[in-house]
Amino acid sequence: MKKVTAFVGSARKKHTYEAAVQFLSNLQSMGDIEYEIVRLSDYQLQPCRGCKVCFEKGEEHCPLKDDRDVLIEKMMASDGVVFASPNYSFQVSAIMKTFLDRLGFAFHRPRFFGKTFTSIVAQGIYGGKKIVDYLDFVGNGLGFNTVKGSCITTLDPMTEKQQRKIDKVLAAQARRYYARLEKPAYPVPTLIQLMFFRLGRTKIGLELDDSFRDYTYYAEKGWLDSDYYYPTRLGVVKKGAGKLFDSVSASTTRAR
Ligand SMILES: Cc1cc2nc3c(=O)[nH]c(=O)nc-3n(C[C@H](O)[C@H](O)[C@H](O)COP(=O)(O)O)c2cc1C
Repeated sequence: MKKVTAFVGSARKKHTYEAAVQFLSNLQSMGDIEYEIVRLSDYQLQPCRGCKVCFEKGEEHCPLKDDRDVLIEKMMASDGVVFASPNYSFQVSAIMKTFLDRLGFAFHRPRFFGKTFTSIVAQGIYGGKKIVDYLDFVGNGLGFNTVKGSCITTLDPMTEKQQRKIDKVLAAQARRYYARLEKPAYPVPTLIQLMFFRLGRTKIGLELDDSFRDYTYYAEKGWLDSDYYYPTRLGVVKKGAGKLFDSVSASTTRAR
């Protein structure tokens, strides 16, 4: 049995919520899936004040007291996660953005490895595809295995043709997502993933010290010396590329 949790960034139970339900029901028809829908509007989330204490000292020192950790715990307890948002003024909704800002420290110190991610964006007319790309980028940044998300067009009143298109899009997305859930949770990184890891960790190792939480986190995880975030078998080409990324990062960091 696999657990999938959808985080919905619309305060009303309409198109975004319904798309999440439909996607999750599609998944359930494919295998043994338990799901939960988390409506972010049911939780307390305060806007980030930008103090950067989470980056520098650790997220436990954040002055805001809200439901951030409850939501993170829900992600940690899931095999798969979905971020679903309406398109508001060509971006995610404010609730979704507040949630993402509350996770800001986790882009520095990613932690959702081995879990599958996708996104759903509900739009009236235009702009949703870029938001899908943005959310998928966020999923990668947090460490998830990301499955390309979907944008659905929901201009009211909905036509039958529009609804059929949505059904098709969400069915195909569920198939992709289910296939990813069934694959090994810790895949060999792509060259791009490897590059981001090696450039970042070399810079952290050289530029920071143990007064910075990013440094101690990387040190605790063994990331200052490891091939990648998790144990993996790099082939000859990726091994060589990894060393090259380390040395490029070292020389650009020293030249700064
Ligand atoms: C404040 C606001 C801004 C919106 N901005 C856009 C937009 O930029 N582009 C667009 O295509 N639709 C836009 N819409 C339409 C919504 O994305 C669309 O109605 C969506 O289905 C709403 O999701 P919901 O049914 O879950 O509330 C906007 C709606 C609202 C309320």
